[in-house]
Amino acid sequence: MNKENNSKEIDESRQGEATMVSPGLKKNGKKLFVESYGCAMNFSDSEVVASILAEQGYTTTSDEKEANVILINTCSIRENAETRVRRRLTNFKNRKKHEPSLVVGVLGCMAERLKKQLLEEEKLVDLVAGPDAYRDLPNLIEEVGSGQKAVNVLLSREETYADISPVKLDKSGVTSFVSITRGCDNMCSFCVVPFTRGRERSRDPETIIKECKDLFELGYREVTLLGQNVDSYRWNLTSKGEIKDDSKPTTNFAELMEMVANVSPDLRVRFSTSHPKDMSDEVLEVIAKYENVCNYIHLPIQSGNTEVLARMNRGYSREWYLERITAINRILPDCAISTDLITGFCNETDEEHADTISIMKEVKWDFSYMYKYSERPKTLAERRFEDNVPEEVKGARLTEIIDLQQVHSLEANKKHVGRTLKVLVEGPSKRRPDEFMSGRTGHNTKAVFPIGNFEKCDYVMVKINDCTAATLLGEVVEILPASK
Ligand code: SAH
Ligand code: SF4
Ligand code: F3S
Repeated sequence: MNKENNSKEIDESRQGEATMVSPGLKKNGKKLFVESYGCAMNFSDSEVVASILAEQGYTTTSDEKEANVILINTCSIRENAETRVRRRLTNFKNRKKHEPSLVVGVLGCMAERLKKQLLEEEKLVDLVAGPDAYRDLPNLIEEVGSGQKAVNVLLSREETYADISPVKLDKSGVTSFVSITRGCDNMCSFCVVPFTRGRERSRDPETIIKECKDLFELGYREVTLLGQNVDSYRWNLTSKGEIKDDSKPTTNFAELMEMVANVSPDLRVRFSTSHPKDMSDEVLEVIAKYENVCNYIHLPIQSGNTEVLARMNRGYSREWYLERITAINRILPDCAISTDLITGFCNETDEEHADTISIMKEVKWDFSYMYKYSERPKTLAERRFEDNVPEEVKGARLTEIIDLQQVHSLEANKKHVGRTLKVLVEGPSKRRPDEFMSGRTGHNTKAVFPIGNFEKCDYVMVKINDCTAATLLGEVVEILPASK
């Protein structure tokens, strides 16, 4: 069994057909197939890519067989993420043998990390474009058309694709990602993201609000504000908090969240990822102030041991993290919290691992994403430390924390049994679509309930009667009218 199948990187690769192609665009008769791996940021970027190519007349298709251009948006976070993509690319390479006009390109984090290797040494693809080079895709595809191999992996300090209104590839029409920052300046020692995504930059708040308003007009009822570290969102402010341009307003994350919350009381607001070293009480107070900002915080800890955290260069201690949990519980008494944990980081001893177990028992996260440490080339950890925890030890520690988390998730869900919770209906349930619908509570827990006189995008009150570690089971007792 793949012990990491609870991975947050959106596990199944997803492809999609555009639901909204700007009206009046001339079609060029060519079809684009985009497949995304990795985190929400990649899925959001694929919609930017679809939008850029829609401007050129491409229509998107969910059937790879009919595509003229195939773009794979890739992830480098752990080795196994890259292995999956390589397998996929080898399949396309075989297809190209009898379909030479097919263009296959690699986007995203592997593009940045492997650059020309994929093009020249392994000859797996025709085109490589890094996360800041998507505006160049029309040119790159043209270059391929004229018989060349095309590559642009330049990282930018400014690019946020702020003005591009993404083409929605996910057809559900209920919930959408909205990117607010790109890149990361943190340099956690295990992490490849600063190398694949470049320096951190924040997107113009006006364009964020416009995108949220447009989504609401289209019927969406939930947005998730995305950044590697949303708490470091700052517009017109330097990293030291000084104003860059006196003539313009400044915006921090708490203020941005408040602006998004004011788009409509019927638009739910989520955000990810919060960083323990930067998450402020000001943000927690905005969450408390607005009913439509969900009481759910994803606050990755990685390890419960302060020395391991120092080796990871995370910028906080065990005590600091626990103080942040206390602040959440004080300001938001009904807030769900999830985390990320890594087992078997360099030099991790049994005692240090025991500290992760003990903090799990202390915090009792509602949910965790858990991973074995996977050494990534060029990272600080690769240069400074030895990847010396044996694979079996990493695996055994991972199993131990997954089992413990299972107990805690069940306990957390049991606390909801008997309550009546507000749920945003997302659509038919996966397992029994003819009888049940599903949606999520503000705590981000999935709830399943019998079909009734309501549809996706409606808010309903669900009385929770039972649960598993992953799902709440209940019945709708009230359908909420739209707010005025
Ligand atoms: N920006 C987010 C995390 C993005 S990566 C944050 O700072 O919290 C998502 C998760 O992948 C991380 O939280 C970490 O738990 C995991 N991860 C990142 N690099 C990893 C590696 N080299 N090996 C194993 N897990 C890793
Ligand atoms: Fe990686 Fe750390 Fe940045 Fe998260 S905050 S993306 S873990 S470097
Ligand atoms: Fe993967 Fe890149 Fe996201 S490495 S997790 S796709 S930022």
